[in-house]
Amino acid sequence: MVTIVGIAGSLRRGSFNRMLLRAAQARAPEGCAVEIGEIRGIPLYDGDEEAEHGLPEAVRVLRDRIVAADGLLLVTPEYNAGVPGVFKNALDWLSRPVADGERVFRDRPVALMGATPGMGGTRASQSAWLPTLRNVGTRPWFGAQLYVASAGKVFDAEGALVDATVDRLLTNFIKGFAEFVAEQRRGRA
Ligand code: FNR
Repeated sequence: MVTIVGIAGSLRRGSFNRMLLRAAQARAPEGCAVEIGEIRGIPLYDGDEEAEHGLPEAVRVLRDRIVAADGLLLVTPEYNAGVPGVFKNALDWLSRPVADGERVFRDRPVALMGATPGMGGTRASQSAWLPTLRNVGTRPWFGAQLYVASAGKVFDAEGALVDATVDRLLTNFIKGFAEFVAEQRRGRA
């Protein structure tokens, strides 16, 4: 069984990105489990706080889940054509201290997807993540792309995925990423 930790980069109760993550979880292929990681409770990064108290509890919990898993799925909103601050802040904490950050990210298979009510499907935000993913040494998977636009029509009021095209693309995406994660794990064994 390969395990993928998925993180939706939004704190909003009605987050489309969380809906997309849940839909990915439900479509995980046999032999793959998608677990949901949380950024809620992670404070703003503060170097003094880190020096005095180390990593906050919410960061340690998320870090341990990622380290115990085989892959990481970032489900990103787009804010002003870039990465949402709350999501980047979480990743910045997870990269600290550097030796621990290496355990979290180095050679870790990572995939990106995202949803927006807008037309661009989070293309700008997903691209904006790339220098950060490179900086922390991840092994990004680019076998498929998933840009969910007009999210208000793709999910119903209960958060269920109701768009057949996105359903097919998402099923294909999570299957491809799970295969990549499994291959990477075999390669390390
Ligand atoms: C947005 N939104 C947005 N959408 C987009 O497609 N491109 C963008 O550049 C922006 N910019 C932006 C800035 C700020 C500050 C906010 C609050 C929002 C809209 C955004 O996609 C929308 O709020 C989504 O619903 C956010 O994702 P969740 O919370 O639904 O997962």
